[in-house]
Amino acid sequence: MKILLLADTHIRDANDWQALESFGDIVAAAAPDIILGCGDYVHEGVTRYQDPETPEYERLFAQLSAWGKSYTICGNHDALKIIRHHNQKMHPDVGFSDKGDFVLALGDYNLICLQTPPAVTGRVRANADVTPQQLQWLAQTLQTSRIAYIIMHHPPAGQTWSEDFAAIIRPHAAKIKTILYAHQHWPEELDIAGVPAICLPPFGRFLPAPGMEATHEEFHLVRGAGLLDLDLESPLAPNAAWISRVGGRQMTYQEYQNEYRQYFRPEPMSIPGTQP
Ligand SMILES: [Fe+2]
Repeated sequence: MKILLLADTHIRDANDWQALESFGDIVAAAAPDIILGCGDYVHEGVTRYQDPETPEYERLFAQLSAWGKSYTICGNHDALKIIRHHNQKMHPDVGFSDKGDFVLALGDYNLICLQTPPAVTGRVRANADVTPQQLQWLAQTLQTSRIAYIIMHHPPAGQTWSEDFAAIIRPHAAKIKTILYAHQHWPEELDIAGVPAICLPPFGRFLPAPGMEATHEEFHLVRGAGLLDLDLESPLAPNAAWISRVGGRQMTYQEYQNEYRQYFRPEPMSIPGTQP
């Protein structure tokens, strides 16, 4: 069972659409069972689009659906109402929380998908609006889960709700494989209450580390999508691999980090205050 995790496309222009559409052959070769959009689809999405059927999102979600059975979570560049509309339209049989959170039950695994929309409606905000009701939903879901992954757009650190989130995770740490998040546009690993959390590669542009220029052509090589294979084990990032956008090369998280670090400084990045 393979899940393609497409994060941070940040569509802005025709070149970005072309890059997305031409990724189809690579997706087909990877043969994922499920496509999971991980937020920040259209760069100016949240400031320009609130209509649930806005054409840019319809086009992007149609593309995801053409590749496979697709689900979406919300980023800080997206309006939650658009994301919820797509999921409910595509999957009327799935039980969504009030905020649109959902669980994909896949054999022994539960993929718990948490919605983290921008804290201010209509504005790009790095801080996400995760409510106490959502955290309660997460706690209840973990209670009945066997092996779980948690997937969300924002890093579960540096937020007003991060301590509460960690407190919910802690008693279930042994059965949570990994927290997968997006947003940062660089390789990053965190420890959240004993659970490894790793940042998905962006499909759109990388952000350079402070003081670096984002002009080097080769850094484009490691942009791509995450490929979560529930049947594989990988020592660093359990069950996770990465597909480069160029050439479709699959690599481990370690290889992805190494490639990135050829062009950007190797120091760990700080979490709070960033606004990709
Ligand atoms: Fe983001």
